[in-house]
Order: sequence, then C-alpha cells, then structure tokens
Amino acid sequence: MIYHIIKSILFKFDPELTHKFTIKQFSIISGTLLQNIFKFKILSRPVNCMGITFKNALGLAAGMDKNAECIDLFGAMGFGFIEVGTVTPIAQLGNKKPRLFRLIESEGIINRMGLNNLGVDNLVNNIKKSNFEGIIGINIGKNESTPIENSKDDYLICMEKVYCYADYITINISSPNTPFLRMLQYGEVLDDLLAAIKIKQKTLEKFTLRYVPVVIKISPDLLEEEIVKIADSLIKYQIDGVIATNTTINRSLVKGLKNCEEIGGLSGRPLQSSSSFVIKCLAKELKGRIPIIGVGGIDSLIAAREKINLGTSLIQIYSGLIYKGPKLIQDIVNYI
Ligand SMILES: Cc1cc2nc3c(=O)[nH]c(=O)nc-3n(C[C@H](O)[C@H](O)[C@H](O)COP(=O)(O)O)c2cc1C
Repeated sequence: MIYHIIKSILFKFDPELTHKFTIKQFSIISGTLLQNIFKFKILSRPVNCMGITFKNALGLAAGMDKNAECIDLFGAMGFGFIEVGTVTPIAQLGNKKPRLFRLIESEGIINRMGLNNLGVDNLVNNIKKSNFEGIIGINIGKNESTPIENSKDDYLICMEKVYCYADYITINISSPNTPFLRMLQYGEVLDDLLAAIKIKQKTLEKFTLRYVPVVIKISPDLLEEEIVKIADSLIKYQIDGVIATNTTINRSLVKGLKNCEEIGGLSGRPLQSSSSFVIKCLAKELKGRIPIIGVGGIDSLIAAREKINLGTSLIQIYSGLIYKGPKLIQDIVNYI
C-alpha cells in the first residue's frame, strides 16, 4: 500500500531522473540505522551454489546499483545476494538521454543506457566501504571505446581489479546496448574469451588463495541451437554458472503499447517467457552440471517458482522491484 503511493508519485517523473534520485537517497541511507525502514521479516532460506552459501535464492540483478553505492541497503531489504555493475575498466557516460522508458501497461521497461558507470576503481572503493556481509556478485563489461576484437582485455582488467572483492564475477556479453557485444556469445570468439577468463581465474586463485566463481550472462534472443553451443562451451571451459537472461530486443509482446518502438533492451513481464525458454534449453543441455541463475520478468512468487521449477538454482529481479516494490522480496523469499 505504501509503495503503491510512493510509486504513483515516482512514476510521474522521468524514469532515469527517478532512478538517479532514488539511488542517491538510498546511498545516503545505506549503511545507517535509517536503512532499517526497508527491513522486512525475511525467513532464513540458505542455498548452496557454486561452493557459496547464499542467505536465500533471490538476488538483485545487475544494472540497479551499477556503482555499488547502496549494497548495505539492498542487503537490508532481504536479498540473498546483490549483483553490482556492469562496470567497465574506465568510467563512461553511456548513450544519449532519454534512454530509459516505462511500458506501464505491460509492466515492462526499455533501456538503452549503454553501460553508463563510474569505472571499476570507483566500484571497488564503494565495496570496500560497505558493511554488507552477504554475497556480492560483480558484473563486468567492456568499454564502448574498446574495439570489439580487444574486448578480452577489458574483461581481464576488470577481473583482476574486482577478484578480491567479489564472491562471484559475472561476464556480461549480452547487453544489447553496447555495439557488437552480443557477438561475443558465438563460436570461436566465445571459446577464446572463456579460455582467457579461465586462465585468469586460475592465476588469480593461485595468487590470492581464493577461488572466485565466474558466471556468464546471456541474451534471451538466442536460437535453441545457439543456446546448445553456448552450454557446450560453458562445460568445456568449466565455467561456474550461467545467468539467463539479459534484456530482449524482441517487441512481439508489447506491440502497440506506449514506448514499444524505443530502441534498447526490454525487461519485466514481457520478458518472462523468452527468458524461461532460454533457461529450459540450458537446463536440458547442462543436466545440472552448471548452475543456472534465472532472471527475466520475475514479478511474483509464482513467476519465481516457475523459474526454479525450470531448473534454476538462484533467481534475480530488477523490473519486478520497480513495479511491485521491496515487499516482492519478502513475498518470494518466504514462500519459495
Ligand atoms: C535500466 C536497466 C539497466 C540494466 N543494466 C544492466 C547492466 O548494467 N548489466 C547487466 O548485465 N544487466 C543489466 N540489466 C538487465 C537486468 O540485470 C536483467 O537481466 C533484466 O532486466 C531482466 O530482469 P527483469 O525482467 O527482472 O528486469 C539492466 C536492466 C534495466 C531495466
């Protein structure tokens, strides 16, 4: 009820302005006693995955707290894990505004932010300041100015910088808003990237005496045969997990709705079925050998259960939190 009122006010303003304002307020409250306003009664539902114990199976998806400014507060809300980023080696502004749109009727969001972030060093500093004791995933990407053929360098730079501060690292090769990024999901290019990441992970493990799992985040716009090939590569290179999925460029379910023609990645309710399709294909191919983290259109306990029933070990939300508010966390975690 309270969120309903807050939402009706926030939704009167430009979506990016609202996001910026909220994150700013959250960053001020985060880590102080005031963050208890957002504390819900969440039952303990520990889950073991990738050798890590998660407080519960529900996480915050990447993109909400890109610069890791409010980890403590999101932790207090009850998330079992927080994924920050995507972060790139150097700060970048992202695409021209406006670049964030609500599709109210379908409870969807279209964004073409373009991985705007303050750079990996800033993110690491913010994590150092946080008191959050839960699981932190750090999602890394490439700078737009880095030629696609040199993408590997950006991922390796970020891996090295975040390794000591992450409980797991996500390799984002599926954002639709960075030119050519999704090409990294295919064939030899993917194998080459995964091989380099695995070598880096082994080197960093030796150096730090700590194994940090690496997961790959994929797109919902893949054909079944492409998903099968990706799954085979993940097994071949012993990747620790896969996040399915990022946002979609498909508009078939939102035709005719306000803002549906905007370029970018669509998330929320209209993404639910295509992300579930990818998860289904992955689960069939991976046969439990690699855990799947399910994300895309989870906006209720039932949607969360659907993802779990398809074979996901963990789940994440983004758009659902915007449309339903923080109580969604309690609704999902307490009954999952
Ligand atoms: C505004 C916005 C920004 C996002 N930024 C990122 C990002 O930086 N990195 C990333 O991997 N995913 C990003 N995502 C995708 C989400 O992490 C998630 O995969 C997607 O929104 C599907 O989940 P949902 O339907 O619960 O929103 C972003 C999504 C939105 C709506």
